[in-house]
Amino acid sequence: MSDILQFLQQRNSSPKLTHPGPSGEEMEHIFRAALRAPDHARLRPSRFITISEERRAAFGELLERCLLLRNPDADQAALAKARNSPLRAPLLVVVVVKVTSHPKVPPIEQRFSGACAAQALLLASEASGYAGIWRTGPAASDRTVMTGLGLAEDEEIIAFLYIGSRNGAAKVIPPPDITQFVCTW
Ligand SMILES: Cc1cc2nc3c(=O)[nH]c(=O)nc-3n(C[C@H](O)[C@H](O)[C@H](O)COP(=O)(O)O)c2cc1C
Repeated sequence: MSDILQFLQQRNSSPKLTHPGPSGEEMEHIFRAALRAPDHARLRPSRFITISEERRAAFGELLERCLLLRNPDADQAALAKARNSPLRAPLLVVVVVKVTSHPKVPPIEQRFSGACAAQALLLASEASGYAGIWRTGPAASDRTVMTGLGLAEDEEIIAFLYIGSRNGAAKVIPPPDITQFVCTW
């Protein structure tokens, strides 16, 4: 089996992430990989917003404010969790999709392309020696969060990707029984 195939079969997310995160130069390569996602009609629906270091605290304040708007009864623990959530990794990448009206490419295909870009970004991060995890939660579909991040009305959040160095050992992935998932027609 090739190293790449073995790498793909062992890919896994890391909820525990620490410093260092990828450098600017490493992120350039990672973004190039993400921008190779399949893209019907080459609409280029995806773009990426990075939030690193001191900006994470400001993003946490935005998440806390938006949680309070969604749920005025949110308790202190929930507000603190929202405020601190961006500090779980050195780098956050928000994957954004611009959904446009197209005669051959329905909106769902544009979102699929964004999801492929998110997965490619995770794979490229791992291939660069880092780790990551895809998170969403209610903030991902909150228009006030989107506006705070500078999204236009026709843009949506596909993923909050948390990227950094793996904190602890990677999970060992047992090989799946492919007969449960694959059939011949
Ligand atoms: C669209 C999407 C949204 C997700 N949102 C969250 C999330 O908000 N919180 C979370 O802990 N995991 C979330 N996950 C799952 C993790 O990214 C991850 O896949 C899961 O922990 C399993 O780990 P693995 O990728 O190593 O198999 C999401 C996955 C996808 C595809």
